[in-house]
Amino acid sequence: MYDIGKREIKALKKAVDSGHFFRYGGKEVVAAEKEWAQKVGADTAVMVTSGTASLIAGLQALGVGPGQSVLLPGYTFISTALAVTAVGAIPLYVEVDESLTMDPEDLRKKIRKHTGCIMPVHMQGMPCNLEPILDIAAEKGIPVFEDCCQADGGSYKGKRLGSWGAVGGYSFNQFKIISCGEGGACVTSDPNIAERLYMAQDGSCSVWPETGAMSQAFFCGGNFRFNELNAAMLRVQIKKLDKILKRLRKKRKELLETLEIPDDCTFIRTHDEEGQCGVCLLIQAPTADRAEAVEHELAAAGHTVHRPINSGRHVYKAWDVVNSQRGGVHPEWDAFRHPKNQRIATHYDRAMKRTDDLLARTVLLHTPYVKKK
Ligand SMILES: Cc1ncc(COP(=O)(O)O)c(C=O)c1O
Repeated sequence: MYDIGKREIKALKKAVDSGHFFRYGGKEVVAAEKEWAQKVGADTAVMVTSGTASLIAGLQALGVGPGQSVLLPGYTFISTALAVTAVGAIPLYVEVDESLTMDPEDLRKKIRKHTGCIMPVHMQGMPCNLEPILDIAAEKGIPVFEDCCQADGGSYKGKRLGSWGAVGGYSFNQFKIISCGEGGACVTSDPNIAERLYMAQDGSCSVWPETGAMSQAFFCGGNFRFNELNAAMLRVQIKKLDKILKRLRKKRKELLETLEIPDDCTFIRTHDEEGQCGVCLLIQAPTADRAEAVEHELAAAGHTVHRPINSGRHVYKAWDVVNSQRGGVHPEWDAFRHPKNQRIATHYDRAMKRTDDLLARTVLLHTPYVKKK
């Protein structure tokens, strides 16, 4: 959340005054869906209650479930892995590259017959190395689901993140590039997936006239319905998004040109310097100890910094509920106990050496955001 003010308050007041808050029968959610689809260049956007809801709904729409594994990077918020267990599949981890996003070379090594989906995550607004990831996925016939929860509005080779894969998921929680408190969205340009996304966001959507006729049978969806208040606020944020990104990118560029870092350290280039969201800079040191020292120096100089290795539930090692395979909501409703998942080798006890090393040797500096009056 970088820029919230009077315009959001005005939109919220208007929505409250309208007296209509439910997603059906109003205009805000429908308009937000149209505007988000347009913004990211997808045919359909379906608004949901959170980024996690977007990942669960997207996996459901893709038909991922028991007997399948999903490949995701070792550096992402735990929600990416939890969305996989929520649909009864097994999350398996892929090493990251220097940009701290999914390493295509390791991805290729980790693909198995049971791989049902590849989930690259554009962490900290930084686009993954999408082209090789998409090439591998196409060669193997596996769908790609982009987790863009930390990269609202970013792009890769001139095309917005989330519009490259079969599905893209976004978060609009408090800490994201744009926010409405809590919220999320899924996008796709596949009409079959779009219908299933709609069913996933609301299992009772068939009773509402807006749903229209579906070309396929309904499945038992849940309720991730968005609402008019959040949508009203989000629509203002969507309008501001490009300006926010422009400011962040400009500030990041200034920092890249002026920040003095020790000779033994380097700035890490992202996979798309134009399209990255500008939220941070990555500084790589030769050792973890040196990175720690640089982190302290930059903090003492007033910068907001951390080393990703210390970012708690964003690192695979801290996903204990997954790694210990004891996280089922019920003993009989547990991805790890499902008979079809028994042939999937997990190896959660094995360290991912490259990921550990890179996360420890990297210092992440957050770009300060200066809001225009
Ligand atoms: C990479 C990533 N994926 C998924 C999520 C989940 O989003 P939410 O908190 O909106 O459920 C987050 C949020 O922090 C995230 O950073």
